[in-house]
Amino acid sequence: MKRLDGKNAVITGAASGVGRAASLLFAREGAAVACVDIDAEMGEETAAMVRAEGGDAVFIECDLAEPAAIDRMARDCMAWRDVIHVLFNNAAVAARAEFEDIGLEDWNRQVAVNLTAPFLCSQKLLPALKAADGAAIVHHGSIDGVLGNPTLVAYSAAKGGLQPLTHVMGFWLARHGIRVNCINSGALRESKQGIPVRLNRDNRAGQPMSDVQRRATPMARPGFVEEAADVALYLASDESSYVNGSVVTLDGGRTGITPGTF
Ligand SMILES: NC(=O)c1ccc[n+]([C@@H]2O[C@H](COP(=O)([O-])OP(=O)(O)OC[C@H]3O[C@@H](n4cnc5c(N)ncnc54)[C@H](O)[C@@H]3O)[C@@H](O)[C@H]2O)c1
Repeated sequence: MKRLDGKNAVITGAASGVGRAASLLFAREGAAVACVDIDAEMGEETAAMVRAEGGDAVFIECDLAEPAAIDRMARDCMAWRDVIHVLFNNAAVAARAEFEDIGLEDWNRQVAVNLTAPFLCSQKLLPALKAADGAAIVHHGSIDGVLGNPTLVAYSAAKGGLQPLTHVMGFWLARHGIRVNCINSGALRESKQGIPVRLNRDNRAGQPMSDVQRRATPMARPGFVEEAADVALYLASDESSYVNGSVVTLDGGRTGITPGTF
């Protein structure tokens, strides 16, 4: 028995990174997958990769910064399947800037994609999630949303909002049999399947993980996108049937130690 047999899953940010890894994994575990992304070329490629393995996938184009586009995307998803069992709110944008240099437009876009979109996607897909009689919403947060990364001000603030959002959604949606959880990831830089990871691509300058990050991480290595997809699969499946309103940290131990002590 596969872990998502007969289930329908919507995954945002499915064109690359964790979203592509999760699309492939969820489909291998029996789910039909709607791959949502702003990038039509790579999003279509993810759906095609799933189908090439014998899975069931469609690509739905959406700019998650636009509430009207989210409305359309939700309608498209519910036309695709009237029951949705899993929503993985995984898409994100991150732009580095010093505090004084952050423009309002840039701030608004990062808040829109990283915080408002998970709220709106969840709310707009609610009819189909309620119809599942046991659904799971998974947000993709970041360890930057717990303490704050000075180089990613707007991103940190928006990801920080996902944590209480997870708690309160877990409260409000439990009555509909919908569980809501969040993954707070640390540095995910690699893929076991050659999947591109694009977040902050221009800031990485070919460095898979900075020396500072490596020293701060007890496991002394970055995470694989497949490791995040594995956690998402657990939270999406019935194996986590009593896990609700929780935040799972996936960072190789980095935030488990008091900063500055070692
Ligand atoms: N990679 C890391 O180091 C890291 C660390 C912590 C958390 N995360 C989280 O993991 C999740 C996945 O990121 P990733 O590392 O796979 O990066 P990625 O850039 O490879 O994937 C993000 C996807 O989101 C899509 N996207 C961006 N803006 C969009 C928009 N407006 N509308 C629709 N889609 C949009 C991109 O096109 C891309 O396909 C994100 O939520 C990110 O915050 C990543």
